Amino acid sequence: MATGRSPTNIAVIKYWGKRDEALILPVNDSVSVTLDPDHLSATTTVAVSPAFSADRMWLNGKEISLSGGRFQSCLREIRRRARDFEDEKKGIKIKKEDWEKLHVHIASYNNFPTAAGLASSAAGFACLVFTLGKLMNVKEDHGELSSIARQGSGSACRSIYGGFVKWCMGNKDDGSDSIAVQLADEAHWKELVILIAVVSSKQKETSSTSGMRDSVETSPLLQYRAQTVVPSRMLKMEEAIKNRDFKLFAKLTCADSNQFHAVCLDTSPPIFYMNDTSHRIISLVEKWNHSEGSPQVAYTFDAGPNAVLIARDRKTAALLLQKLLYYFPPQDKDLSSYLVGDKSILTDAGLHSIEDVEALPAPPEIKIHDQKFKGDVSYFICSRLGAGPKVVTDESQVLLNSITGLPNG
Ligand code: ADE
Repeated sequence: MATGRSPTNIAVIKYWGKRDEALILPVNDSVSVTLDPDHLSATTTVAVSPAFSADRMWLNGKEISLSGGRFQSCLREIRRRARDFEDEKKGIKIKKEDWEKLHVHIASYNNFPTAAGLASSAAGFACLVFTLGKLMNVKEDHGELSSIARQGSGSACRSIYGGFVKWCMGNKDDGSDSIAVQLADEAHWKELVILIAVVSSKQKETSSTSGMRDSVETSPLLQYRAQTVVPSRMLKMEEAIKNRDFKLFAKLTCADSNQFHAVCLDTSPPIFYMNDTSHRIISLVEKWNHSEGSPQVAYTFDAGPNAVLIARDRKTAALLLQKLLYYFPPQDKDLSSYLVGDKSILTDAGLHSIEDVEALPAPPEIKIHDQKFKGDVSYFICSRLGAGPKVVTDESQVLLNSITGLPNG
């Protein structure tokens, strides 16, 4: 049995469009920041036993099917690389060729709502591949693991590393050079604070898989973006990260998010991932950045309405939170469940109670509306850059019972 934990990641140069659907090969390079696993991660326990009669998986306590091609690819690729394993103390000996015959049980748990649209499959598939690799004594490096995780969910390949990560699109038909590499670890730019607004939405969103397919088939802007815009943007983004140049980083991050959503609009039929709340948050950040004379905050939006805001430092993040809470106050009286993750940002912002939020002055420099929008943000998450996958040794976090092989209650 083995247990691992993997972070989720947020792209600042977006992945949108596949050149090979089966192998999950992208039409352009992308860059992401890995988030702190304490706030956004998947934990996965994998076990093998001759007593298991089938491969089975439980996600957040509910059994799900493993028959999909993506799970099958990850299982097949890890099994193919499995090696001899011996634990003399426990009297366990598994030969390389025996792994194929042993069924696995997998239990995975996300420490954030899977339905919130926060790249849970990126954390999930990175964790599955990392933890299965540990169990089966796979010796491949992180680059190779990233290429297997990619076959589960494209963006999962970037969750194999912490810090700033680049997914190189690669050129080979077999996808062997479409791997992730780390640009800088999480300690490189510690000042950055990530504030996520989980935006309420009643709308059923287009899945990324079908949205991307439609964009590849119909959007002329996607071709231009992949061939002309992203290659030069990648060079600049790598420089911005290397030099901790926030001005350039923010400019590129916002521009790339906006171009991704422009590609969605350019798709036939058009895809709308952002909603009025998303647009109001963009407007707030743009106005504030303009009034300060230089960018204080970058925004980026994935395939959904949630805003991911990256503040240049803690002081800026606290000011940002004040402005956001002025326009988007919580619906109920409980401030502490309205901001999860690193709650100390509330103290930095001088917000100890709901009365403090109600007393916030209107931010004059960023007047986006005369009214407030109570209830339009479900909650906020405050996080930072984080490390890559890790083995979990704390017994209390193991998700499968070592006797029955079934999920712990
Ligand atoms: N999809 C969403 N969350 C997941 C997880 N933890 N493991 C595998 N797939 C997932």
